[in-house]
Amino acid sequence: MAAPQRLLLENAQQLVLVCGRGEEYLLRDGCARLAVLRDASLVVGLDGRIKAVGQADVIRQQFSGATFERRIDCSGKCVLPGLVDAHTHPVWAGDRVHEFAMKLAGASYMEIHQAGGGIHFTVEHTGKATEEELFSTFQHRLDRMRRAGSTLVECKSGYGLNLEAELKMLRVIERAQRSVDIGISSTYCGAHSVPKGKTAAEATDDIIKNHLPKLRELKQSGEIRVNNIDVFCEKGVFDLESTRRILQAGKDIGLQINFHGDELHPTRSAELGAELGARAISHLEEVSDEGIAAMARAKCAAVLLPTTAYMLRLKQPRARKMLEEGVIVALGSDFNPNAYCLSMPMVMHLACVNMKMSMNEALAAATINAAYALGKSDTHGSIETGKQGDLLVINSSRWEHLIYQFGGHDSLIDYVIVKGKVVYQNERCGTMSSY
Ligand code: NIG
Ligand code: FE
Repeated sequence: MAAPQRLLLENAQQLVLVCGRGEEYLLRDGCARLAVLRDASLVVGLDGRIKAVGQADVIRQQFSGATFERRIDCSGKCVLPGLVDAHTHPVWAGDRVHEFAMKLAGASYMEIHQAGGGIHFTVEHTGKATEEELFSTFQHRLDRMRRAGSTLVECKSGYGLNLEAELKMLRVIERAQRSVDIGISSTYCGAHSVPKGKTAAEATDDIIKNHLPKLRELKQSGEIRVNNIDVFCEKGVFDLESTRRILQAGKDIGLQINFHGDELHPTRSAELGAELGARAISHLEEVSDEGIAAMARAKCAAVLLPTTAYMLRLKQPRARKMLEEGVIVALGSDFNPNAYCLSMPMVMHLACVNMKMSMNEALAAATINAAYALGKSDTHGSIETGKQGDLLVINSSRWEHLIYQFGGHDSLIDYVIVKGKVVYQNERCGTMSSY
């Protein structure tokens, strides 16, 4: 008898591969045309990797004697890669609903920040919270992200600012990496804001002299695995020179550069990121033409965050220009107490309406290109043999419903699958539709 397998998804009306030739990312035309199979099936092996994908009759024959731990009939449904959220701040205590009211009444993000609110408010509350409290809310948020289709999520620290509190946040992220069935890319963001009582220069020195050496030690011992380094490069926060020093020092200890830039003011963050070999830069509402060209040349991904531009009523990042110039465009939710949105389907919808991306471009940006932004497109972001079995099954015969139905993902998503294991199943899907 043939070897047992973990999962069979059979007879999908559409199976959206996104890409199928080992592409690291998709540019221009590549995002405009995605690879989609019809009447297709897919098998995930016991190792959690995709074993085979193809026409339903071919897969049926190929696995005729095999046993499966789980089979799901996907007739009339669509299968997509799990969504990748390339930018989140999900570990914190103390919401900021009161600030949302202030912003609606006309206060700007920076006015609130300079008056001691914003990130400072969250830092104060996160500092007082125990590791256990932070883990419990974080776990709940990760669960909500999964229900909305995310299977790989970038998670930042950055509401600690002092070494001890930053390490507390990173330990919480590490614990989730070990215990929750979801992919996590962990980011040290100690330069998210200048801590009260310090100048930006003092904070920069503290990070380089104290934080990064400690992180290196914990990384080496395997206690905390951090993948990326982030800085909020912005007028009145960390300037270009401090940002350069911090990012370079992070790169020197083996972290990928992935930072906030050109959001509220043009700062030439994109040019700096391209020069330093950054993997990705987020926001970019105010990026220059030269910055766009430099990012395209350097293969530095642009992580666009439609929720922030929408909620703060910023000018929209120039997604069309970036795509035309050959930039790798990715998407993230930017989930944080300022922009409370956990849903990548809603992010894709906003990217389409407000940034004028097509639905194909938005899906590529929320899968393979977001995986690239995290340095993980060899294992994530598309449905290809050998990649991790992270998948969505949606109850619709056309995959575009995932974007079209704004806020409708709750009833549209039937299954979320990580490494071939069902981690979320819509209550509508009883034993009748799966067996
Ligand atoms: O990406 N711009 C800086 N950081 C976050 C906001 C964090 C906060 O306000 O708590 C962002 O939007
Ligand atoms: Fe952010």
